[in-house]
Amino acid sequence: MKINTNFANIAENYLFSTVASKLAAYQKEHPGRQVIKLSVGDVTRPLAPVVIAAMHRAVEDLAHAETFKGYGPDRYCYGYTELIDAIRANYARKGVEVKREEVFVSDGAKSDLGNLLDLFAQDNVVLVPDPVYPAYVDANIMAGRKILYADANLGNGFLPLPEAGVHADLIYICSPNNPTGAVYDRAGLKAWVDYAIREHALILFDAAYEYFISDDLPRSIFEIEGARECAVEICSFSKTAGFTGVRCGYTVVPDTLSFGGVLLGRMWARRQATKFNGASYIPQMGAAAVFSEEGEREIRANIAYYKNNARIIGDCLDALGIWYTGGKNSPYIWLKCPNGKKSWEFFDELLEKANVVGTPGSGFGKGGEGFFRLTAFSTEENTREACRRITEYLKA
Ligand code: MLT
Repeated sequence: MKINTNFANIAENYLFSTVASKLAAYQKEHPGRQVIKLSVGDVTRPLAPVVIAAMHRAVEDLAHAETFKGYGPDRYCYGYTELIDAIRANYARKGVEVKREEVFVSDGAKSDLGNLLDLFAQDNVVLVPDPVYPAYVDANIMAGRKILYADANLGNGFLPLPEAGVHADLIYICSPNNPTGAVYDRAGLKAWVDYAIREHALILFDAAYEYFISDDLPRSIFEIEGARECAVEICSFSKTAGFTGVRCGYTVVPDTLSFGGVLLGRMWARRQATKFNGASYIPQMGAAAVFSEEGEREIRANIAYYKNNARIIGDCLDALGIWYTGGKNSPYIWLKCPNGKKSWEFFDELLEKANVVGTPGSGFGKGGEGFFRLTAFSTEENTREACRRITEYLKA
């Protein structure tokens, strides 16, 4: 047996595991200190009441022979039509038409983002922005693919555009972006769609944070003309509706997508039938309730809560004269480390002196060096306290 030696080319630990183990080591040494976590993008608000009620009903369904469910419907890759139709209705509200067969329900965006790679040859060239959500990079390195980086920097507002003369086969776009919080406008996404069509490439569009958009910006790649010829969209209920622990997401694969004469949706269905048995019934029913009128109102209240946290962090940084972006249409605030510090240096200092933990920008790629990410997903109380500590430490 030979192991996959590509694993030797990724960092020993996943970024958020490294942050968690540094935090655990600190807490072991300083057991009395209450550290506030503004690092991993994990939610803190309880699920919306309408979601809880739907999941209770689903549990009850499983308790009775007449309503009991085993495997989900084979026809839709184990997605229940209640959920698929709710997803389609939600797209329709954005002016996007999606067919039932194009929606693939999963246990979350991260799994789909990795699993989709089964469909593509190893010698495809991958293009990601730098800084970038590390899961895209690690998953492709594990598969032995070549990765090109598009610089996301202060000059381009952390929104790189395609470069002439650079060819890629698979392009990752996350908008609103993790980690920078930057959001493409229609012209920006159109430039990527045109490029992908020209290069016969596929865009993997990560829309996990679309519910944080309040300005007039695209929430789906399919709002852009031509995207059905070159993009799949990966979505999640994690940040939209607090499902990080519940697990449910979906991917839209247009039936117009064909490469080398092969329909991508067919391939994905075939892959899922072999390696996946569907998301659980209970989360699927909870997720369907998210896109009801009541659900939409309730989840919007949670999102407004997090966005208020982002505003609190932004006000704090403004008062300290620290440059930052994001936070407006995104739960992430991307800031320049004060006094020219390096990302991990600032991480250690913030942890030690303010007992606040964030995520070092350099963990997201070379282009993130000197930057730092804070999340708005904590409680308001902890966000305010973290800001008070950061201010006290930086003014000292
Ligand atoms: C993050 O902190 O970047 C996110 O929690 C990552 C994820 O959703 O997997």
